[in-house]
Amino acid sequence: MAGFQSLPGFREFYPEDFSRRQHIFRVWRQAATSYGFQEYDAPVLEPLELYTTKSGDEIEGQLFSFTDKGGRDVSLRPEMTPTVCRLVGAKAGALKRPIKWFSIAEFYRYERAQKGRLRAFNQFNADIFGEAGPEAEIELIALLVQCLAGFGLTKDDFYVRLSDRDLWFFYLEALGFNDAQSRGILGAIDRYEKMGDDAFKGYVEAHGALADETKARVLAFLQIKSLADLEAALAPFASEKLNARLADWRKVLGGLAAMGLSDFVSVDLAVVRGLAYYTGFVFEAFDRKGDLRALAGGGRYNDLVKKLGYADLPAVGFAIGDVTTGLLLEQRGLAPTFVNAPDLYAVIGGEQERLAAFADIRALRAAGWRVEYPLKDVAFGKQFKAAAESGARLALIYGGDELAKGVVKIRDLTDRSEREVPCDRVADAVRDALGGH
Ligand code: HAM
Repeated sequence: MAGFQSLPGFREFYPEDFSRRQHIFRVWRQAATSYGFQEYDAPVLEPLELYTTKSGDEIEGQLFSFTDKGGRDVSLRPEMTPTVCRLVGAKAGALKRPIKWFSIAEFYRYERAQKGRLRAFNQFNADIFGEAGPEAEIELIALLVQCLAGFGLTKDDFYVRLSDRDLWFFYLEALGFNDAQSRGILGAIDRYEKMGDDAFKGYVEAHGALADETKARVLAFLQIKSLADLEAALAPFASEKLNARLADWRKVLGGLAAMGLSDFVSVDLAVVRGLAYYTGFVFEAFDRKGDLRALAGGGRYNDLVKKLGYADLPAVGFAIGDVTTGLLLEQRGLAPTFVNAPDLYAVIGGEQERLAAFADIRALRAAGWRVEYPLKDVAFGKQFKAAAESGARLALIYGGDELAKGVVKIRDLTDRSEREVPCDRVADAVRDALGGH
């Protein structure tokens, strides 16, 4: 085996791959700024403790963690949420509310590599702090839709499944579960789609068998797919807490409908999210065909900032990943083609002419044109071939004969027409031919 391989689950971005990634980042950044979110960044290496108590068992088992040379227990970040809570928490008093922030960054999880899941991946995170009402959910779900629609994806390509952990807890409480049991049930529900009935095994081991009737009621709640069904399921409880939640549901769905986004959002109580810190609405985006793992996930986490030792600050947010997004774009033929063509290609006669060309090349580049030239002397024929293959629109020809006459020849590579321009008029001639700059 020659050389070294990169580690499993880590990607290398050759220029073509890099340009696809840049396209994804560009669309996300454009969406976030149009929604008034501000960009931030943070360390890639964090104290291990930030994750071991807050993110939940699943992520804890996947940490890239180690002891550094100073004896600190550290971890590469598996997600942004605890970090952004620290950033906001530390300056909560000074930040203007609502705090709407986003970031684009790389994360690391020691997962079993599979389609759509790697060990190093990028996420776009968007979060709102300081807004307890469902208006924040409307803003974020709308932004999530734009983060995918911005590529040209439509309601036939993806959708957002909206659920509510508070509702689940209230409902399970009404069925007689205590808090620890409810968490066990939600863990089972999180795995239910993948594992079916086996998902309840862990619950039964920890808390004992589930009565058939109770399990049936849990599974019936999980199948709720509309607001009307939800209202009907909750009506018998006539609880104030539940009615307040339903009012929030109407607000979120009403707001998204008013934005014209109803077709992108489905009520779906089967989504509960694996991360431990979520408190209220939770949501995940999926491709419609169901071929891929989740595109995005998020929800409300009103307790996390306080749990980290800062102010009591309500929060909600989501993250969308570049791996599944990239796969979906490819499937739909929406990945951009790699364009790397220069505007101009300088064809140069020899060492003398090269020095004359350099002044123009530098000035043209400074003016914003993409200019290429051969680094070494090669035959004219080869240079013209390279110019044509490069995709450049114009060739600038610096031959001995031309320079002796005080001109540069400009060849239009699309129709092969040529004209000569005085040496000091090259920039003007290029602007005339190509426009702009
Ligand atoms: P998450 O569901 O763990 O949520 O990840 C969000 C998205 O990141 C996933 O839907 C997926 O697209 C991508 N992702 C996660 N793990 C991998 C992986 N191993 N390989 C490729 N892509 C992956 C969170 O991380 C929360 N912190 C999101 C959040 C922000 N909640 C509130 N604010």
